[in-house]
Amino acid sequence: MCGIIGYAGPRHAQNVLVDALRRMEYRGYDSAGIAVWTEDGLEWRKKAGKLSNLEAELAQHPVPVAHLGIGHTRWATHGAPTDTNAHPHVSSDGRIALIHNGIIENFASLRAELESSGIAFTSQTDSEVAAQLIAREVGAGAGLAEAMRTISRRLEGTFTIVAMDAHDPDLLVAARRNSPLVLGVGEAEMFIASDVAAFIEFTREAVEMGQDVVVEVTASSWKVTDFEGNPVEGRPYHVDWDLSAAEKGGYDWFMRKEIYEQPQAVADTLLGRFDSDRRLTLDEIRISASELRTIDKVVIVACGTAYYAGLVAKYAIEHWTRIPCEVEIASEFRYRDPIVTSRTLVVTISQSGETADTLMAVRYAREQGAKVIAICNTNGSTIPRESDAVIYTHAGPEIGVASTKGFLTQVTACYLLGLFLAQERGTKFGDEVATVMAEMETMPAKIQEVLDGTDALLALARDLHQTESVLFLGRHAGYPVALEGALKLKEIAYLHAEGFPAGELKHGPIALVEEGIPVFVVVPPQGRDQLHDKVISNIQEVRARGAHTIVLAEEGDEEVRPYADRLISLPRASTLLQPLLATVPLQIFACEVATLLGHDVDQPRNLAKSVTVE
Ligand code: F6R
Repeated sequence: MCGIIGYAGPRHAQNVLVDALRRMEYRGYDSAGIAVWTEDGLEWRKKAGKLSNLEAELAQHPVPVAHLGIGHTRWATHGAPTDTNAHPHVSSDGRIALIHNGIIENFASLRAELESSGIAFTSQTDSEVAAQLIAREVGAGAGLAEAMRTISRRLEGTFTIVAMDAHDPDLLVAARRNSPLVLGVGEAEMFIASDVAAFIEFTREAVEMGQDVVVEVTASSWKVTDFEGNPVEGRPYHVDWDLSAAEKGGYDWFMRKEIYEQPQAVADTLLGRFDSDRRLTLDEIRISASELRTIDKVVIVACGTAYYAGLVAKYAIEHWTRIPCEVEIASEFRYRDPIVTSRTLVVTISQSGETADTLMAVRYAREQGAKVIAICNTNGSTIPRESDAVIYTHAGPEIGVASTKGFLTQVTACYLLGLFLAQERGTKFGDEVATVMAEMETMPAKIQEVLDGTDALLALARDLHQTESVLFLGRHAGYPVALEGALKLKEIAYLHAEGFPAGELKHGPIALVEEGIPVFVVVPPQGRDQLHDKVISNIQEVRARGAHTIVLAEEGDEEVRPYADRLISLPRASTLLQPLLATVPLQIFACEVATLLGHDVDQPRNLAKSVTVE
């Protein structure tokens, strides 16, 4: 949700900034812009629409060669996506250029105050107030860092801001509250960005920033303080993936590449989880076994696809640990006065680690005395840093806006957590951890099998891409898979799609079924699962009303065959682990339908990855 980049170093700033924006365009693509420092003053270019519009502008009117600059790609909140509202914003005296990610909640009163002192605004954004406020401070004699600290104390809401001053050729100053910010430390050059993807081409040495900090950056130095000016430590870390992970590598879309990376991503998430005594270990569990034994409830909190991963987790955690497990949408959680105590284990799931709704849930839960475990894919992000424990999903960067490998690795990490709790609490499944882990270790190869058999799915997408509405049914752990299948189709193909628990259909939604409507059904494994036959009845119910049934069932399941207009075979797996397989064909179907419809699969309309506003 808005990507920001600042650069100080020997390279031509325009090239560095535009490359960085390209790698962060998934964060927002309503407009883009850059500003650089020159001896004749600040120079900037900005354009509404995708980054390609800015690139076209720069091809016509490049900025002069410069060694200090800032760049921004926008997901609009305040003010329409126009050229004027694009960042950078430049103060009316031309001295300060500034980029911002987040929402300044008290911008209206600040703007009124500035306007009453004669300052003229050019945009409708909340961000411009920050540029004008800093200009007023430096105009009164403050240094840029001091001005940033002063205004940060006045701003309410969430923000990452980076500013440069026409009077200072060397310095960038950033401020951060709640929105992401990471420093990249290169050889005689520095980067400050929303995401390491912005600078991974140049350095893999990063520094994680705390909350409410101001960072002063030159090509050869960096310094962090709080908003009062007291020194603050940053946490240096090494980024363990390289540039190729942030590029498409021959695929048409990042999403398709990420779908095909899932066997590896799941394998990496499972890697090295046993200690020398064959006991399951997790990444950073700063919660003692005795504390875990007192837990009387698990509450999983997440948004969107991550929430559906949580729904899968509920089945596994309750089954393995016998602890009640609730799953809640993060934006609803803290506003309904939930029952959370020191005996509640709150589990947050977030690919980005920056989702504002989920972050607020973490803070709320900790205020209530609960312990919080984060399941997260992004080292250095805010949610794991503010939690008591972290399980990292080692999926590598997920750039396609629609989450795919994020989901599968989140589900995997949730299984690990369930098994870990069973082990630490000594429930009857504690003894079976190794058995379930052994089955989990077979899953990457089985996901690969699903990926190797995609021809039928591509043909299915060709046949069905003109359809207006698609339903997805599942029961038990297959129900969240149905929800995820529908969400994928909605967000990238813009089709009406809904997921239902198959048994619930007859209580209302079956009225949607009409002649020819495609209905995907996830069938639990045969024989070993009591729901198998019930789902077959549900398939017959929709088929009798004219539905075109696309059935995902275990290979060799002959019982479903007569009721499947199309049959998609899945490798054998237990009911609880089946979501790792059944989700994959639905991702491929959605990706292919969206491609056939001519949509931008990686950057679907109105969306952005990493939603850093509430
Ligand atoms: C859907 C999707 C979103 C995210 C949600 C949470 O494909 O990607 O629904 O899952 O915005 O994001 P994270 O996991 O970063 O907290």
